[in-house]
Amino acid sequence: MRVLTYSDYDEMSAAAARMIASRIAQLPEPVLGLATGSTPIGMYSELARIHDEEGLDFSRTTTFNLDEYWGLAPDDPRSYKWFMKGHLFSRVNLDPARTHVPRGVDVDPDAECQRYERLIEESGGIDLQVLGIGMNGHIGFNEPGADPNSRTRLVRLAQQTVDVNRAKGGLDSLPGYALSMGIGTIMEAKEILLLANGEGKAEIIRRALRGPVTRDVPASLLQTHPNVVCMLDKPAAKLLDLP
Ligand code: PGA
Repeated sequence: MRVLTYSDYDEMSAAAARMIASRIAQLPEPVLGLATGSTPIGMYSELARIHDEEGLDFSRTTTFNLDEYWGLAPDDPRSYKWFMKGHLFSRVNLDPARTHVPRGVDVDPDAECQRYERLIEESGGIDLQVLGIGMNGHIGFNEPGADPNSRTRLVRLAQQTVDVNRAKGGLDSLPGYALSMGIGTIMEAKEILLLANGEGKAEIIRRALRGPVTRDVPASLLQTHPNVVCMLDKPAAKLLDLP
């Protein structure tokens, strides 16, 4: 795993956006795996800026988001579909038919998860998967204990995850379940970009990058992936003993 540190959140976000922009420019039909949460917001803004000011063309790009809350409609402001529209989809020239987020309503969950896996496979697989990391080490909504071979499925969220996400969003309520790509799904991405910022993530980043590989810290399983870049701001990297 390559670990890169940046002086602050804006620098980390700019570097992450640059990496994505270069894959979009290089690949004939790029397939991106995308994440929600507070961490990638700066990266999405920077991608929109690169699109506006440098003409980065998203028209050949396909995207797959990691997860969606079970029970939230796409026009619910708490949904990840809504988040993605606001932060990226409406700001660049992505073809709506090529932007995929699991559907959290009006579907049979198992059928929807199978459909999602099939779409990823038919697209040729994910070239670059962006990940944040939860305070408990989750990636996507794969909470501690998740099967390393898991595929897209309905998952129950850890109470800590619901509480953290509710507090961050200033929300009264959030569902306790989600559809999430599995760890097996994520590990099939050809390249992975893990992002974390802020001192609050320092300890879980230390456990994920330097601790044992264990399903108790899902992000530690990334140590076994051959092509991971981890971008951190200084506060998130502070327990890593980097030179
Ligand atoms: P955050 O969430 O970016 O809001 O910290 C990350 C995650 O829970 O995966």
